[in-house]
Amino acid sequence: MRQKIVAGNWKMNKTRDEALALTSEIVNMVRDEVRGDVQVVVCVPFVYLTSVGKLLETQSNISLGAQNCHQKASGAFTGEISAAMLQSVGTKYVILGHSERRQYFGESNELLKDKVNSVLENGMKPIFCCGETLEQREQGIHFDLVCSQLTESLFHLTSEQFANVVIAYEPIWAIGTGKTATSDQAQEMHAKLRAHIASKYGAAAADATTILYGGSANPGNARELFGQPDVDGGLIGGASLKSRDFLDIIKSF
Ligand code: G3P
Repeated sequence: MRQKIVAGNWKMNKTRDEALALTSEIVNMVRDEVRGDVQVVVCVPFVYLTSVGKLLETQSNISLGAQNCHQKASGAFTGEISAAMLQSVGTKYVILGHSERRQYFGESNELLKDKVNSVLENGMKPIFCCGETLEQREQGIHFDLVCSQLTESLFHLTSEQFANVVIAYEPIWAIGTGKTATSDQAQEMHAKLRAHIASKYGAAAADATTILYGGSANPGNARELFGQPDVDGGLIGGASLKSRDFLDIIKSF
């Protein structure tokens, strides 16, 4: 049985006091309302990792996540954060390859290969984002495009390394737009990705891989999305900034 995960990507939001208040709400609500084996992750801005991490210590099924890291171990990279630094403050998951970083910071599949290596070498789990633009979908090249993102950034890994990777399919046209992929569209792409993983690592490894959906997921659509056979949870943006919405999504399995 593969791990169900609901991860909140806070992006560049919240002041320190707001971040701590939201975290406390989530911790209390998860403790009181969430049963079963859903792994919750909160991916917070770097500056709050330590303080949010402290609040999470009391709730074993909520893990600390980051939204990026530099690919190098250390050095003269002003303003950057290494994987080792993230691990040293208790980070367990790191979002890599989010479309906003690919778009605004020019992150390529090749660069992401190095970032994936660094996160794995430091004992953390990459949440590797992939997804197509509306134009690529309309051109009918979305399956090949998204599969190539996995091939070029992940398929150098050994089976043992790959077992620690979480995939997040985020159709770019659904991110922050309120235009969610239909559950059929999500299921179709997730199944394609799982088959692509099987072609490289075998059926058992593919079946064990957690594949999350991201892109305008909310309490109103999460249950149908998570009910799809190849959707194992969500990577949640806007709705993760409101504790009640985030908890309702977590409870949608
Ligand atoms: O990483 C998750 C994010 O890109 C989705 O954002 O606001 O559409 O849930 P949102």
